[in-house]
Amino acid sequence: MIIFLLFLSILLVFSASPKCPHGFPLHFERKPTALNNYTKDWCIAVVEYEGMGNRDRARSICITINATLTMPENKEEFIAIAKHVQARNKSTPHAIDGEFTPRCKVEMYRNQEFNGTAEKGECNVHNHLFNFDDVNTDPTFILSHFTGGVPNARGSNYGTGHPTFQYVADCLVLENTKSPNYTAPIGVTDLAYCVGAASVKTYTGSLFDLKREISSVLCGKRPE
Ligand SMILES: *[C@@H]1O[C@H](CO)[C@@H](O)[C@H](O)[C@H]1NC(C)=O
Ligand SMILES: *[C@@H]1O[C@H](CO)[C@@H](O)[C@H](O)[C@H]1NC(C)=O
Ligand SMILES: *[C@@H]1O[C@H](CO)[C@@H](O)[C@H](O)[C@H]1NC(C)=O
Ligand SMILES: *[C@@H]1O[C@H](CO)[C@@H](O)[C@H](O)[C@H]1NC(C)=O
Ligand SMILES: *[C@@H]1O[C@H](CO)[C@@H](O)[C@H](O)[C@H]1NC(C)=O
Repeated sequence: MIIFLLFLSILLVFSASPKCPHGFPLHFERKPTALNNYTKDWCIAVVEYEGMGNRDRARSICITINATLTMPENKEEFIAIAKHVQARNKSTPHAIDGEFTPRCKVEMYRNQEFNGTAEKGECNVHNHLFNFDDVNTDPTFILSHFTGGVPNARGSNYGTGHPTFQYVADCLVLENTKSPNYTAPIGVTDLAYCVGAASVKTYTGSLFDLKREISSVLCGKRPE
């Protein structure tokens, strides 16, 4: 009987902590809620690869390792990711899940005063300004810790007799994982152009902010 109980408790201990697959060093226990599709465990990898500012390249890298684009769900997860990034001197910033919906981009292009934090209705940051790939992460933390305005970079090119072409930094990135102040209540969420640094060379206009290279991405999956 005692041996049986011992066996049972060993089973329980093992079933209580599922293992993350090889290549996913960060394991998070989450509070299951409707906003994270009742996810109890989540595994994250910070994958370095060039051209991760391009959203479809970043998405493809995660799919190659059977994962999805992801993001930290709370401050504790952010700090664990920051420690991991600092210990291995990984490239920052990191591409993370989330991009403006096409409908809200139309709103921004029509309205130069668009402010995602003040916006009423669909295009408010806490409503449906962003689309996400990952259903297993509650985006509330990321959407409450922007480093600047929403949008934070936009522009257009124009010339007499030509149409005006607009662009806006439309994909989420994670900042400050190497900040000496990373445990303080700092902004961690920024925006970069979903087309990536290589493609924005074709834009004319102010190129300074457009050319930032992003060489790492956060990928997530369930434990095995
Ligand atoms: C939520 O997770 C369940 C598995 O636990 C899955 O069947 C379902 O498709 C997920 N929901 C969404 C919206 O992906
Ligand atoms: C991804 O999943 C497929 C199908 O289950 C499997 O064949 C493949 O080895 C997996 N790849 C990785 C990198 O885990
Ligand atoms: C960390 O990486 C950066 C960029 O690749 C490099 O310039 C720096 O020397 C590295 N620092 C250490 C301590 O390896
Ligand atoms: C956007 O709205 C927020 C909240 O109303 C305000 O604090 C912020 O200053 C506004 N940003 C700009 C650039 O006007
Ligand atoms: C660290 O963060 C705190 C709280 O936000 C702020 O008051 C302080 O100035 C920051 N220090 C540095 C060196 O950035």
